[in-house]
Amino acid sequence: MWQLAHANPTHRCRVSAQIHGRIPVISCGTKGAILIFMGIVVLTMKASVIEMFLAVPQINCDVKAGKIINPEFIVKCPAGCQDPKYCVYGTGVYASYSSVCGAAVHSGVLDNSGGKILVRKVAGQSGYKGSFSNGVQSLSLPRWRESFIVSESKPQKGVTYPSTLTYSSSKSPDAKAGKCETTKAYPRPSAPGTTAQPVTLMQVLAMPAAEVNHATLPKPFPFVASATSSPRPQPLGHRSWEMGIQKQDSPGAAFQEPMGTDVSFGFIPKEELSTQSSEPVSQGDPNCKVDLSFLIDGSSGIGKRRFQIQKQFLADIAQTLDIGPAGPLMGVVQYGDNPATQFNLKTHMNSQDLKTAIEKITQRGGLSNVGRAISFVTKTFFSKANGNRGGAPNVAVVLVDGWPTDKVEEASRLARESGINIFFITVEAAAENEKQHVMEPSFANKAVCRTNGFYSFNVPSWLGLSKTMQPLMKRVCDTDRLACSKTCLNSADIGFVIDGSSSVGTGNFRTVLQFVANLSKEFEISDTDTRIGAVQYTYEQRLEFGFDKYSTKPDILNAIKRVGYWSGGTSTGAAIHYALEQLFKKSKPNKRKLMILITDGRSYDDVRIPAMAAHQKGVITYAIGVAWAAQDELEIIATHPARDHSFFVDEFDNLYKSVPRIIQNICTEFNAQPRN
Ligand SMILES: *[C@@H]1O[C@H](CO)[C@@H](O)[C@H](O)[C@H]1NC(C)=O
Repeated sequence: MWQLAHANPTHRCRVSAQIHGRIPVISCGTKGAILIFMGIVVLTMKASVIEMFLAVPQINCDVKAGKIINPEFIVKCPAGCQDPKYCVYGTGVYASYSSVCGAAVHSGVLDNSGGKILVRKVAGQSGYKGSFSNGVQSLSLPRWRESFIVSESKPQKGVTYPSTLTYSSSKSPDAKAGKCETTKAYPRPSAPGTTAQPVTLMQVLAMPAAEVNHATLPKPFPFVASATSSPRPQPLGHRSWEMGIQKQDSPGAAFQEPMGTDVSFGFIPKEELSTQSSEPVSQGDPNCKVDLSFLIDGSSGIGKRRFQIQKQFLADIAQTLDIGPAGPLMGVVQYGDNPATQFNLKTHMNSQDLKTAIEKITQRGGLSNVGRAISFVTKTFFSKANGNRGGAPNVAVVLVDGWPTDKVEEASRLARESGINIFFITVEAAAENEKQHVMEPSFANKAVCRTNGFYSFNVPSWLGLSKTMQPLMKRVCDTDRLACSKTCLNSADIGFVIDGSSSVGTGNFRTVLQFVANLSKEFEISDTDTRIGAVQYTYEQRLEFGFDKYSTKPDILNAIKRVGYWSGGTSTGAAIHYALEQLFKKSKPNKRKLMILITDGRSYDDVRIPAMAAHQKGVITYAIGVAWAAQDELEIIATHPARDHSFFVDEFDNLYKSVPRIIQNICTEFNAQPRN
């Protein structure tokens, strides 16, 4: 649909494209001719340059796929595109907001020495997942208008690839190339007078440790920069996020972005633009969905200067994490004699507001009652009213100057048992001659759920605190490793296997469903917490709903209520086999697999082999028998020891009595298991 400009050896500028009758505006660059057609820039180049590259256009590392209009093309990438400043979003399929050459390196098609690649545009995705691959850290993005894939440059027969590329023009104000936009926020131009520099968590994580300290952290995000924010000079030695603009003079580059034209912001799809308003638009980094609380030391002993460093540390974290309702949320509790919530999880739901609020915190003074603060966080801070989302791991990061003035072990244990992951950062620990004053020796080890160093940091000096930011954020965002937040109520895939045989009868079947609902109610239900599935069986089996069908408690309870009574025979063995295949095969590896089978009679088929298969597959099986159910059979079905996993009640109306015992057994067993 687009006609491309052909190179002309004698003229630098010429119009050779007719684009929907729009009036061409012509301008000429020094190296190539640039033709701007009201939104479309066609770059041409000298024939000599084409010959040099055998008609394969060359681009710089920083060129984003979205800038190029051609749906499919071969380009040559220069060497050096592995640099983190060439931002890449996605894995395999990349948002067209990514550097073409950077994505090629990430996908393994290209190495850092450059070369030719084949690029094909594909449809926009509703989500892009970042990953580390071939030396490139790609970022996540929730959605983008267009994507592309990269493959080796093997021209397909019959396809002519463009010898020049068509670029979309951009009209946005100045923005520097060579910086990655924050993962969830759609970039918009910085407010006048700010030296806003976005930074993403992954960028920070990709930076060498020595560079991550608050002296070098890029300052406010552009998407939250307000017109009233004052300019903040970049400190000397600031890491240059702007190296990418050297492209003007890169030798051999056939195409130059027109000077003064924005590379980063030029390609912002309309739908993204329309979501921008004065409100920040970030939904937060979904790869770091945690409910975070920072317990900061406001005791008198810490002093003004160190309190200030602590605040700066928090502010840097608030800024670096992409805070938002679909990502991390963060609240702060300051402790002294008593703890006080500075703000809860939902007070400030974006990085900039949070950072501003942190800067306004004033020191409370008093003792350093950390244990009391941890109890407070368990009881109060992580309540639903304070914004606890339920589906996100709870993390408490405790900063301690020196040592606490009370004990932390018991309070921490209770916190952990309620599902809170506790991280301890101890700064300027007691020196040898001070150890006698420490009330609880090795308090940090007593507070955390594992003493392998994952949950604790020991920082010799407040000046070195910022160095913990990078590893701390990596750990708190690594939700799979936050084992302390796994409880018996939020960690399972529970499959109910319900006998729908004729002997049960309609009324009793309702009671059975009530029982299933009552058991389900006890658990924390969400995609990331406990999930529920159900199978009904007679001679036959049917999947009522799988684990991924519903992700909220009300939906689950409704679905249970809607299960229709089937009526028929009783093939319990076949039903167990079916549940393994249809339900538990789709369980996630990190979930505990619980099968709860309810039957009112002896099975027509043999249950031994299917039951053994369930046990071998790690499916913890509870057998609940009513009325005519055979106890010996229940014991075969149940996981060993059978007395903890099989229950018998003489009539359906007594089923409700076993609910608390079943839950208790599930939790007792969970707690008895070694956890990480
Ligand atoms: C389910 O819970 C309700 C409300 O607590 C109770 O009235 C009912 O007896 C229970 N039924 C069963 C079968 O557990």
